[in-house]
Amino acid sequence: MYRLITLLFAGLLAGIMISCGGNGGNEEESDVIKIGHFASLQGDIATFGQQTDKGIKLAVEEINANGGVLGKQIQLITEDTRSTTQDAGLAAEKLISNDGVTVLLGEVASSLSLVAAPIAEREQVPMLTPSSTNPEVTVDKNGNVRKYVFRVCFIDPFQGKVMAKFAKENLSTQRIAILKDNANDYSVGLAKNFRETFEAMGGEILAEQAFEAKQVDFKSQLTDIRDMNPDAIYVPGYYTEVSLIAEQARDLGITVPLLGGDGWDSPELTKGKFKEALEGCYFSNHYSVEDTTAKVKAFTEKYDQSYGELPGAMSALGYDAMYIVADAITRAGSTDSEAVTKALSETKDFPGITGNITIDEQHNAEKSAVVLMIKEGKFTYFATMEP
Ligand code: PHE
Repeated sequence: MYRLITLLFAGLLAGIMISCGGNGGNEEESDVIKIGHFASLQGDIATFGQQTDKGIKLAVEEINANGGVLGKQIQLITEDTRSTTQDAGLAAEKLISNDGVTVLLGEVASSLSLVAAPIAEREQVPMLTPSSTNPEVTVDKNGNVRKYVFRVCFIDPFQGKVMAKFAKENLSTQRIAILKDNANDYSVGLAKNFRETFEAMGGEILAEQAFEAKQVDFKSQLTDIRDMNPDAIYVPGYYTEVSLIAEQARDLGITVPLLGGDGWDSPELTKGKFKEALEGCYFSNHYSVEDTTAKVKAFTEKYDQSYGELPGAMSALGYDAMYIVADAITRAGSTDSEAVTKALSETKDFPGITGNITIDEQHNAEKSAVVLMIKEGKFTYFATMEP
């Protein structure tokens, strides 16, 4: 309570100071442009936030070294969501109300972006998620496009379709079981999207088993699945659970490949004892570190030099998202939130690391996906799937 009062008081004071300035809007007077990033830097999905933050920071360094945006330097303010919905909401509120950011970047996880999206709408501050793929992040349940919310990645109806087609055509599987995380909007949506395409192509979904996030024992679901003798198992979850699921599946004698989506992308997925369990499995993703086009190679090398590790899809999407924000502010010619929102919605053919980015009417980016195969613990490029 005390903290709340102090916060309110500080807010009030800032409000008075701004209105005394008489310019109606603090950004115009500031000599920096503030961008807020809310990210899972700790907790269950910490590698998501850490990699995104590194990608964004690399972009900010480059942009600032090249003179900034509208002659001003970018000031990046990062808030930790600790991988929880509660802190995601607090972080978004804080960045908007206390810091007065021009644009919000984040989150990776769809469930966390879904918490922040209504806040961005209410506060009329543009929000750009680098990597949340659930459709409802930008278009609400009633089918209304959220005016202030955008993304630079493809969405799960596409990602689910990609993997279903891949399973049917490239792997010639016919009978698949699904194991999804019921507490995760991303996972539930992707399972549904995969099933729809796979069944429409004449494939059979033997079962759709579910677990709840933070579960560590999947043996009962996996035993049921094993007894149905599927050709493959689709596991649209995050790396934390997928590693355990793979390990336990192998322990139970399941040898068929597991298939998944971008949520698998983490250096933790195949660490140590998990390496063998995931050998020969496949997942869909936004980017491949093996892409040899000059631009992507330059990014990958620069990232490696800066951080001593290779970028993941989130690093590349964070980098692209920051550049798109800089481009939108430049085109808007100001940091006015309506002008920046409009400029974001008009993003067209922006040459990103993850492909050419055009923001469509649903505020999504239509892009190709890659399928990666896990070989000796590494994510190796296998195929590109066009929209
Ligand atoms: N698309 C995932 C989600 O919505 C997040 C993610 C993106 C994870 C990219 C890894 C890589 O929830």
